[in-house]
Amino acid sequence: MMSKYNFDEMTVRRGTSCVKWDAPSPAGPISENVIPMWVADMDFKAAPAIQEAVRKRAEQGIFGYTHVPDSYFESSINWWQRRRGWHTQKDWYIPIDGIVPGMSIVIEAVTHYEVAGEKVVRKPNDGKGPNGELPKVIIQTPAYNCFFSAVRNQGCELVENPLIYDTEGDVPTWYLDFEDLEKKCADPMVKALLFCNPHNPCGRVWPKEDLLRVAEICRRNNVVVISDEIHCELEMPGYHFTPMASLSPEIQDNTIQMGSPSKSFNIAGLEISNIITSRKDWKMMIDKVINIYEHCDLNPFGIVALQAAYDEGENWLKELNQYLWDNYLELVNLFEDEIPDVLVSKLEGTYLAWIDVRSVGVPTQEIENSLIEHEHVWINSGVMYGKEGFMRINIACPRTRLLAGIERIAQGLKRLSRK
Ligand SMILES: Cc1ncc(COP(=O)(O)O)c(C=O)c1O
Repeated sequence: MMSKYNFDEMTVRRGTSCVKWDAPSPAGPISENVIPMWVADMDFKAAPAIQEAVRKRAEQGIFGYTHVPDSYFESSINWWQRRRGWHTQKDWYIPIDGIVPGMSIVIEAVTHYEVAGEKVVRKPNDGKGPNGELPKVIIQTPAYNCFFSAVRNQGCELVENPLIYDTEGDVPTWYLDFEDLEKKCADPMVKALLFCNPHNPCGRVWPKEDLLRVAEICRRNNVVVISDEIHCELEMPGYHFTPMASLSPEIQDNTIQMGSPSKSFNIAGLEISNIITSRKDWKMMIDKVINIYEHCDLNPFGIVALQAAYDEGENWLKELNQYLWDNYLELVNLFEDEIPDVLVSKLEGTYLAWIDVRSVGVPTQEIENSLIEHEHVWINSGVMYGKEGFMRINIACPRTRLLAGIERIAQGLKRLSRK
């Protein structure tokens, strides 16, 4: 395939107040020659249509408070309809300045508020059980680090439904544990499941059958599904993402989707995302919490960037996914040759490779620090995601940088294994 976009361009981000390249590491300030392969954004420039839309908006030179135009909702509605056959309506959308703030707001709304008559009110006893038990929220671990904090910060108890790790097949893969989910959902204090699809950090794009089973268990137990689908367009060849809420009208009515083009189009810094729910009462509860925290305003650049991504970004996205897949294959091949005892999990979605480094025999926070210090490459310890023994590598960078980075990782893991 002739490539229209240049993902090989060796972009320069250091010195641009960029978290990935400029933030201090756990091992201290990072030196000039460290290759950062940690936090989840990409070293690629955004699609030309997005750059153009942002440039055009900047040219006006006025950056006051922004109203979300109808065209924003049209772009979003068309995107879901065209890409996934999911019909959404304007009044289901709650635009918000990021998935993490949105997720915290949604958790608080569904665990601490309810609608009585026409009004949103605090739940009796603040949502606590008869013996003072906190409302509970399930997450499927290993999980994106903010899932842990979002649940705990909202005065809820975290319940883990660990994924099952299977190394018996051709490629190590993570599976949902339905039996355990069923058990955990049966607890009447469990109010919500914070679901992640595609899954960060395990790289799964959950198949429809799995989504149906999760949705059915949750519906039967009155557990709200909060589905974080931020990585949804990052699909590797052969895998197809399905929005949880698109499965049936009943499932839609038990699901709150957290969606954004921010990961797939590399516009996370523009802080734009949507909470989508077909339930009027839930929308009222979420709006209430948004107003309590005054999270009502959006960034004008985020609004135009989302529209450009959804209206004109599809071809760019297609090429991006192919490039990411080729990067993943480079990583798998190099690790197989150089460090065969380090296992790379199957990557169906996201640009985050999840590797099993238990054979190295060193705690992963030590590995993270040591790789920064000695090999000058920065990847994330799995402890951040609730899983010792595993590490996460961000492969969304130009091929030349990727090859240098993964070679350094392999050398570092070999050095540490010999110790
Ligand atoms: C699953 C998941 N949700 C949310 C976020 C962050 O969302 P935002 O930057 O919009 O708050 C990330 C970032 O890595 C993520 O992986």
